[in-house]
Amino acid sequence: MNILIIGSGGREHAIGWKLKQSKQCGKLFFVCGNAGTGQLGVNLPCDITDFSGIKHICVEEQIELVVVGPEHPLVEGIVDYFRADKVLQDIAIIGPDKQGARLEGSKAFAKEFMRKNAIPTAVSMDVTPETIDVGIEYLRSLAAPYVLKADGLASGKGVVILHNLEEAERELKSMLEGKFGDASTKVVIEQFLNGLELSVFVLTDGENYKILPVAKDYKRIGEGDTGPNTGGMGAVSPVVFADEDFMKKVENRIIVPTLKGLKSAGIDYKGFIFLGLMNVESDPFVIEYNVRLGDPETECVVPLIESDLVELLLAAYRGKLKDTVLEIDDRAAITVMMVSGGYPGNYTTGKVISGLAGTKECVVFHAGTSIDVETQKVKSIGGRVLAITAVDYSLEAARKTVYENVEKVVFQDAAYRTDIGADILAYKA
Ligand code: AMP
Ligand code: GLY
Repeated sequence: MNILIIGSGGREHAIGWKLKQSKQCGKLFFVCGNAGTGQLGVNLPCDITDFSGIKHICVEEQIELVVVGPEHPLVEGIVDYFRADKVLQDIAIIGPDKQGARLEGSKAFAKEFMRKNAIPTAVSMDVTPETIDVGIEYLRSLAAPYVLKADGLASGKGVVILHNLEEAERELKSMLEGKFGDASTKVVIEQFLNGLELSVFVLTDGENYKILPVAKDYKRIGEGDTGPNTGGMGAVSPVVFADEDFMKKVENRIIVPTLKGLKSAGIDYKGFIFLGLMNVESDPFVIEYNVRLGDPETECVVPLIESDLVELLLAAYRGKLKDTVLEIDDRAAITVMMVSGGYPGNYTTGKVISGLAGTKECVVFHAGTSIDVETQKVKSIGGRVLAITAVDYSLEAARKTVYENVEKVVFQDAAYRTDIGADILAYKA
């Protein structure tokens, strides 16, 4: 069957790489893709929220399965669009509808959902410009650090953590005055959770679920988790502090009540749920829901899936996940992200990437890359450029391989963290 993947990052390259290994995969298309996805299938230019443009592609290319990578099309209702359209309604589209996507699209909605379903999360209060005084009182009742979250989508920048009260009060005012545009006309003030963060991906058909290998993301730009937040600088899987006991708690306290809550809200959810969790003294708390897979966690987790991903996705869409088995490779995976100089601030692009052909025993997933029209060479066009993944019997061995390969790949001003996975190797329970 012909498959369309929406998105252009390392996550979409990894999904495509895995789907292509299925006997069921016919032609693969990407909107819009990158230099790496162009080697797997056909990249087509179209805005990811231009639903009629996407419809045109689906008809033209006889698409039978659509995988939506990023959150924006889901939050804007791409699944509802497909379900309501006579021509598109039989296409298996992976992702929640607009109502389900509010779990990511509105932090206030997600907090209310968790309160209603008794899902463990930090205590919080929603604040609007009308209730700012109550919000400030609430901030004063909390201990530092202070967590402020823009309600809506803010390209991963909408969470601000402040260490003193005055700064927090100033930030709250600035957010409510539109620092993040419409996304911050409502702000969630949240208790700070101290613990170990991890990402858990669940594939659900609305009733049944499969848990993918657990990953840890490295969000900050600098070594030792310092400096500004990024989209993610690397990932490892599995995660030592997510042991069997902890994962049982995640299932019983979070996954099962989440699915039950969605069902009782009348939401028919077929797709991925990404639980951003904090392990606080061996108890899981939800920091955030996302309605898609994470990036770069996907580049790390997908190579550990042994089962046929086309089959799993179709089973999720058809409500048949119960009849499938998710086979997992029990080795360790590590992903290191190579980024452009200056990222996550203003960064340089258009740099020729060399050394790709010399990489071995790893997979190079492309993110912000394209083929230069004149020279036909691969060049950088984004902040996050390449995600390099290695899998081996120990994290130590995988880590050695991944860094050997990272060093072979060269572009001007390239940057990467050299400490991905180091904390996991040093971790003592
Ligand atoms: P988010 O955009 O929701 O992923 O939040 C960005 C980052 O802020 C998270 O990955 C956490 O590291 C941190 N964070 C969010 N909420 C909390 C919280 N309640 N306590 C501690 N850290 C948090
Ligand atoms: N790596 C975190 C995210 O995709 O949101």
